[in-house]
Amino acid sequence: MWSIKKEKGVPVYISIVELILGYIKTGQLLPGQRLPSERKLAAALQVNRSTVVHALDELTALGWIIRKQGSGTIVNEGKWGISTTPRTDWRRYLEQNAFAKVHPFIEKIEQAVKQPKEQQLDLYTGELPLDLIPSFSFPPLTWKHFLEEEQQDDFGYLPLRQAISREMKNEYDFTLPSENLLITSGAQQALFLILQVLLQSGDSVAIEDPSFLYALPIFQAAGIRLYGVKMDKEGICLNDLEQTIRKHRVKMVMVNPSFQNPTGKTMTLKRRQALIQLCQKYQVPILEDNVFTQLNFIEAEEIPPLKKLDPENVLYIGSLSKILGSTTKIGWLSAPTSVIRQLAEARKMMDFSLSIFPQLLANLALTDEAFAEKIADLKEEVKQRGQAVYKIMANMKEWDVAEPQGGFYLWATWKKGSLKPKDWSRFLEIGLLIAPSFIFSERNDSIRINFSRVAQAELPLFQSKIQAITEKIVSET
Ligand SMILES: Cc1ncc(COP(=O)(O)O)c(C=O)c1O
Repeated sequence: MWSIKKEKGVPVYISIVELILGYIKTGQLLPGQRLPSERKLAAALQVNRSTVVHALDELTALGWIIRKQGSGTIVNEGKWGISTTPRTDWRRYLEQNAFAKVHPFIEKIEQAVKQPKEQQLDLYTGELPLDLIPSFSFPPLTWKHFLEEEQQDDFGYLPLRQAISREMKNEYDFTLPSENLLITSGAQQALFLILQVLLQSGDSVAIEDPSFLYALPIFQAAGIRLYGVKMDKEGICLNDLEQTIRKHRVKMVMVNPSFQNPTGKTMTLKRRQALIQLCQKYQVPILEDNVFTQLNFIEAEEIPPLKKLDPENVLYIGSLSKILGSTTKIGWLSAPTSVIRQLAEARKMMDFSLSIFPQLLANLALTDEAFAEKIADLKEEVKQRGQAVYKIMANMKEWDVAEPQGGFYLWATWKKGSLKPKDWSRFLEIGLLIAPSFIFSERNDSIRINFSRVAQAELPLFQSKIQAITEKIVSET
């Protein structure tokens, strides 16, 4: 009677639960009947006693057995508390949850971010500091006003789509037609929709290595296989990309060509053109994530969006997060008509439609007559902060850095190879919070610094902290 079949992938305690439940349900174990002692069960089943205890705990929680101190374990005689169907073992589900896996170092960094201490510098958070985000005042709005404006279609609030369209025209002299624009709840929702609608579990996607996308659990959760392609000074390496496309039958190439997160790198015009040709050759669509585009320190002509170079084969994602803060939750996606319709339809079915409130406010900000000037001031300030942090880092021989051309990230690579867990902990000890390269890649040799968060007055503090960490790491190797 007391034997189990050990099945691959099924925890042993579950097999014991199922065995005992089976006996109760078929009447081989009767209400009030005593079960053998834990020790005897363990010996008969040839398992550890703790495994038996685990199984009996589960059956007790389900109400099928009662454990009385001194008189052992009996099958429950009453009906109260008995769950007639075995309860879902949520732990088995949660073990596979891609959203739950947070690296312990990141957990500590995020805790430190939540409890800011004096003298601590948070250059980890991927946002502008509050004092830099442009502010706008709004005309008095009534509830009715919002309700009236609610007459939007599935693509989002039309005046906002038109305003976004005009912005791209002003800056990059190309049009994202408003009829092909879908307003999303941040760029991440746009990515999510693409994964849900255009890709399937098991599909392969090529991304830059390192990449912000590597850090997002939504790919893993959707069963998408990511392949990293290394980058050189000009951007994603095309020989490697071609090999990856052939070897893994890549379904989509996703790049962040301007002021990339995390490296800050910008793809040259030549590389952009060659990337487009390569993807056309293999008929692989490109997803262009261009969320930093408004923060360019270099001329817009040098970095035309891929979408401008190949409107038909490129899906384009933008966002207000990087200039107006991510809590605005306004992003957009531009795609050919047939694709955008399906994405909008899918979103409606998933009931992820966007509220009119943030859209109306975002439109008021974008159409504010001081908008352009405020963004120009922001850009200038961020640029100066970038140059100041770059100078400090470039003067330290242990780190390899490149001068930022836009965005707000500086990527500093430790020239002597990989950093060890002990080295990473120095950043926490000294209170310089940065993003480690291992969240964007398998690399362990670089840090991402959000330089927009270092105000002029904080430069000496930043310098002394990074120098102290550097000296410590050097002295310990
Ligand atoms: C490259 C990149 N794409 C997309 C996003 C997501 O943007 P949003 O806040 O609009 O969802 C971010 C945010 O950090 C990003 O860095």
